[in-house]
Amino acid sequence: MSGSTVRRVPIIAGNWKMNLGPTEARDFAASILADLGSLPSVERVLCPPAISIPAVHAVTSGSDLRLGAQNMYFEEKGAYTGEISPLMLQGLCEYVILGHSERRGYFGETDELVNRKALSAFAHRLRPIVCVGERLEDRDANLTERVITTQVQGSLAGLPAERLGELVVAYEPIWAIGTGRAATAQDAADVVAIIRALLVEMYGAVAAGQVRVQYGGSVTAANIAEFAANPDIDGALVGGASLKPEFVEIVRKTAAVKGA
Ligand code: PGA
Repeated sequence: MSGSTVRRVPIIAGNWKMNLGPTEARDFAASILADLGSLPSVERVLCPPAISIPAVHAVTSGSDLRLGAQNMYFEEKGAYTGEISPLMLQGLCEYVILGHSERRGYFGETDELVNRKALSAFAHRLRPIVCVGERLEDRDANLTERVITTQVQGSLAGLPAERLGELVVAYEPIWAIGTGRAATAQDAADVVAIIRALLVEMYGAVAAGQVRVQYGGSVTAANIAEFAANPDIDGALVGGASLKPEFVEIVRKTAAVKGA
């Protein structure tokens, strides 16, 4: 099933990673807000570092610019030094990125941990943006489908099917992140189709058809139109380019290609 018959609102999320402290983040968010204006056909999400979330919230609240965290722990509170809980994000963020390949790679996050976090996000009314993606070695060895299958089945097990429209999956091939070497739109669409087929197996066609699946990895204003033109790709998770005014252009181009 292509999933293209279901109307899904495209979503462009900016993952600022470990950049922009509270003051810089507030000023940058204010400039994006002023430049973007209202654009109801594309959902826009900013994901600042945790410490900058309240400062960004102060300038974006009441607007249609949404906020997301880059990570969280699954417990509500307790002796977990350095962690951020879902309760702390509630009221500030609507989204939370989970299982980004940098979390998986540098901080040892497993599919099981990502799954516990995703379940916790649903339990706390936060919308997870769950990242999956293969390494270059996997792709070269024709293991992409196997790797994606393991990640999707492991990270996305046991979610409430009736609320699957709250889930966003970001397909981010690791070799494309921060390298300037984006996947082709066709390669991305092929893996997005695998992801959606897995979701159909796990949750049925109706629920799976509501999940938005983004592409991420070296998305720029120059290549976003190719991804957006594919009806099965529901937007993008943007890293480097989300730290520049280019982010506004990426959102505008998505709106122009996807239509109102
Ligand atoms: P990039 O990062 O756009 O800088 O490649 C994407 C991401 O890691 O989400």
